[in-house]
Amino acid sequence: VSADRVDHTAIAVRDLDEALARFEPLLGVTAGERVLIPDQGVVAVFLRLGDTQIELIQPVDGGSGVARFLDRRGEGLHHVAFEVDDLKAELARLEESGVELIDREPRRGSHGQVAFLHPRPTGVLIELVEHDH
Ligand code: CO
Repeated sequence: VSADRVDHTAIAVRDLDEALARFEPLLGVTAGERVLIPDQGVVAVFLRLGDTQIELIQPVDGGSGVARFLDRRGEGLHHVAFEVDDLKAELARLEESGVELIDREPRRGSHGQVAFLHPRPTGVLIELVEHDH
């Protein structure tokens, strides 16, 4: 991945209120607004830490991938997101080099266009983010 930085690290939680009561004092920051991401069946909040963020995600729909993740693995690291300049070009480059993609085309995330890569080769779900310019 030709990434400039870790955009955010996402942690799956069952209850955002309860999670924020733990994470805000732990990190010493206040979370931003809650954002509904209908595409992923989750509500998310971001906690800014310097030039990166922690994203807490709670499923709003029992059939979503995050709900299944919580059932299988419990609360914890869900994905790591890297910022890229040109998501379409990056997806084409990765596909060309045989990397298994979940999304072949960018889709709408909370702050821009996003795409997910399959966790199989790394053990971690990876998200690529191109912010709105
Ligand atoms: Co994310």
